[in-house]
Order: sequence, then structure tokens, then C-alpha cells
Amino acid sequence: MLRRLHPEQPDSFAFTAANRQWAEAQITKYPEGRQASAVIPLLWRAQEQEGWLCRPAIEAVADMLGMAYIRVLEVASFYFMFQLQPVGSIAHIQVCGTTSCMICGAEDLIAVCKEKISAKPHELSADGKLSWEEVECLGSCTNAPMAQIGKDYYEDLTAESFSSIIEDLAAGKVPTPGSQNGRYAAEPLGGLTSLMEHEGDKPKYNASVALAADLGDTIKRIDGTEISILTPWLGKDGKAAANKTSPKPPKAMAPGKPAVRQAAEAKAKETDDQPEILTDARNGKPDNLKLLKGVGPKLEQTLNDLGFFHFDQIAKWTPENVAWVDSRLKFKGRIERDGWIQQAVKLAAGEDTEFAKRAKKDGIYED
Ligand code: FES
Repeated sequence: MLRRLHPEQPDSFAFTAANRQWAEAQITKYPEGRQASAVIPLLWRAQEQEGWLCRPAIEAVADMLGMAYIRVLEVASFYFMFQLQPVGSIAHIQVCGTTSCMICGAEDLIAVCKEKISAKPHELSADGKLSWEEVECLGSCTNAPMAQIGKDYYEDLTAESFSSIIEDLAAGKVPTPGSQNGRYAAEPLGGLTSLMEHEGDKPKYNASVALAADLGDTIKRIDGTEISILTPWLGKDGKAAANKTSPKPPKAMAPGKPAVRQAAEAKAKETDDQPEILTDARNGKPDNLKLLKGVGPKLEQTLNDLGFFHFDQIAKWTPENVAWVDSRLKFKGRIERDGWIQQAVKLAAGEDTEFAKRAKKDGIYED
């Protein structure tokens, strides 16, 4: 299977402040001159944040590590765990298709994916919320067939239970992971035959399911605020960080393929769900929409073409308005995923978001 960069790329990538701090801490694990060793953790965090690895993300990681872009692309394109194409805005589902799972019904699960998500793997569902692929053994063979969604395993699946999990995900719910047929963990299907002394006082879930249930939103993209940054190798004050490494600041991101959407085409599809649009910016002074995380120069132009010039317009979008705009963008689901409305509310009120502060400080997207 050829693994290449996706033909359609976003304009930019930037780690969230917390993820960037985490990434810089990871780099300090390695001796001077060996920062490239952090390439996989940094790529992985970029993917955890965005769902997939776009070219600007690969380049941003390369810049942080002082590596040639091609070297980082080699890593990203070699390992199948890195997604090189957009994935569902809610979840990317990985169905195990190896021997145990295949014998126990993986083909039925794949049929469900084809029916409910898309006919082919690595394609987005029509609403952009879900995507799927078949993967090799995930090491949960005792509980076959199974699928990984986010960081969690859903085990002992049937076509019916898998269907309802997919429906729940599409409806914005977070299903409880683990065995779906009542098994506690990986004990025999017929129940325990030994080590039964504490059978009556075991907790509701096994440890990994309990952890997922405690976290609640286990398919949320990782913005770095979920976990404290552990840097035990730096000592208590963390000062070794400054001495050990000085990551290069990211360069302005390379532009991706133009994400042009013809305004005429969009306007031809106006419906009742259309949000307030303007023919031009008020007083000829549009807001710098690039201060919204996820909006680069090309996407800003598209928004302008659609009639959006100001943060307060975006701040007022209803869910129906979001669907209207989303249907006119190339990358579905990014309005919700990147939290445009929450960002726009702040920016319209004259406040700064973390991304806007960083963009202004780094001189990226200055008007
Ligand atoms: S064969 Fe599916 S988890 Fe091992």
C-alpha cells in the first residue's frame, strides 16, 4: 500500500500551548545532537491533537527537531499507525481483521463499517464524523472480535453491538469500552472455574475500562490539558530543560494545496439554515479570521467568499448554521473540532485565545 501525503492539505498546524510544552519536555529526554529521537512521540502527539498528520504538522515537528522535512515524512509514511489522511471528526475506528477476530466475526464488523461509515476504509462518512480501517492483531484475541476506537478497546463485539456503538458515537455519546457481552475481562466465556474467592467483591469494571469510564470522554482529541507534564529526568525544578535543549521556533508554515471553494457554488445552495452573511466587511475592515485556530489564509478567503468577515458573525452560529457552513468546506467537522465558535466569542469580545496569542507572538498570520 502506497502511503503518501493527502492531496488536500490544511494551510497550517500549530501545537496547542500545553501540547507544545509537552513536546518540548519530551525533547529534553535526549542528549544534545540526538533530538531527532523524539520524532515519533511528537508526531504521535500531533496526531492525537488533530486526528491525522498533515504536511504542515510533519514540517512543524521537523522544525522543532532540526530535521529535514523528508526525514520526518519518511517516519510518518513508514508506520501505519500514522494517519496520512483526514479521519472522522469524532472517531477513527480500527477493526482487527487478524485470525482470531476473523474467525469470530471481523468480516461482519467490517460490513457494518461499510454500511454505516463508508464503502472504503480511510474515507470519511458523509457527515465527516467517522472513518474506519482494518488493522492487524491488536493483542486482544481472547476477546475477539474487537475494535479500537480512540485509545480504547471494544471487545466481544457482534454486528448488532458494534452498530449501536457506531450510532452512539455519531450521536455524540461516548459508549463504555471493554467487553460488550458481559465478560468482566478475558476470563472463559462460560465463567471462572478457578480463582473464584473474590468473585463477589470485584468492582464494576476491570481496571482499563474503569479508567476510561472515569475519564468520561475517551475519544476526545488530546489538547495537552488532560495530563500533567511529567519530566522526572529534569529534576524537581525542571531547569535542565533550558540547558539540555533549545528547540528551534517553528517557521511560518508552508502553504498547502489551495482549498478553494467557489462562492457562487456555495451561494447557490442557500437554505433556511444559512447564517447571517454580509456582502462585504463592515466599514471595509474585516477581522483577522486567521486568529481562529484551524483557519489559515486560504480558509479565511473561503469564509470571506461565503460572506463571513467578522468574529461576531461566527460567534452567533447555531448548530444548523454550523452544518450549513461545514457542508461548504473541504474538511468537514473542523468547526466543531477546533472550537471556532468558542474562539470567536472570545475574540469578538476583544479577548485573546491561546492560539491567537501564540499566532501574534510568533508573527504568524499578522494582518
Ligand atoms: S486477532 Fe484480533 S486482537 Fe488478535
